[in-house]
Amino acid sequence: MSGALSWTLDDRRLSGSRGMTVLEGAESAGLSIPHLCRGCFKTGGGRCRLCTGLINGRPRATCIEPLAEGMRVEFDTPELRTLRRTLLEILLAQCGKDHGTTELDAEAARMGVQESAFARAQACLPIERGPGQIVIDHARCIMCGRCERAADAAGAAGFVRVIGRGEGRRLWMDDQVQIDNACLGAIVAACPTGALRLDQSTRGKP
Ligand code: SF4
Ligand code: FES
Repeated sequence: MSGALSWTLDDRRLSGSRGMTVLEGAESAGLSIPHLCRGCFKTGGGRCRLCTGLINGRPRATCIEPLAEGMRVEFDTPELRTLRRTLLEILLAQCGKDHGTTELDAEAARMGVQESAFARAQACLPIERGPGQIVIDHARCIMCGRCERAADAAGAAGFVRVIGRGEGRRLWMDDQVQIDNACLGAIVAACPTGALRLDQSTRGKP
C-alpha cells in the first residue's frame, strides 16, 4: 500500500504521508500552526490544545491526530482563532510574565496576544529544589509535560511526572532515578515557561 495520501486543509488540497500527524502534514505544506506541548518532539502531548483544528467537523489536537486519506481539516476559522487566543491567554495567566521572554511568550507574540484577560491564578505556589541542581517554580508550570518527555528521551524515564488531578495537579520529581547533569540540562531546556532552572550553587535555598 502506498504511503501517500491526499487531504484538505482550509480548502487547500494537500498531499501527505501515512505516519504523519495532521500538524506535521500542515507544516510540510508550509503552514505554521501554533503549538506548545509538542516542542521538538514528533508528536505532541495533546495537553495545551493550541494546535486544535476541526477534523472532519470535530475539534481535535492536530499534534496527536494521524493524517488519513480524504481527511478534511479546518484550522483558520474565526471560532478556532478565538479558541486558540483564549487558550493562550489562560496559559499566560497561569505562569505570568515576570521572568523575561520564554517560548510561551514567543508563541503569544506570534499570535498577536499582548495581554491575558484572565487573572494570574498560581502566584502563591512554591519554588522548591528538586533532585540534583534543579529548581522548580511551580507557579510557572503549565503542566505541558515536555519535561516528562525530555526525561524519557534522555534515558531517565519516570524522573519527572505531572501527578494528581484538577487543582491538585503538580510536578513531581523522583530522587531515586539516577540522572546526570546533561540529562538535567535537557529537561530544563525542554520547559517552555521557565518553570525549571539549574541552580549551580549546591547550598542554600533556591
Ligand atoms: S515544568 Fe515546564 S516542561 Fe514541565 S510540565 Fe511544567 S511547564 Fe511543562
Ligand atoms: S501542541 Fe497539540 S495539544 Fe499541545
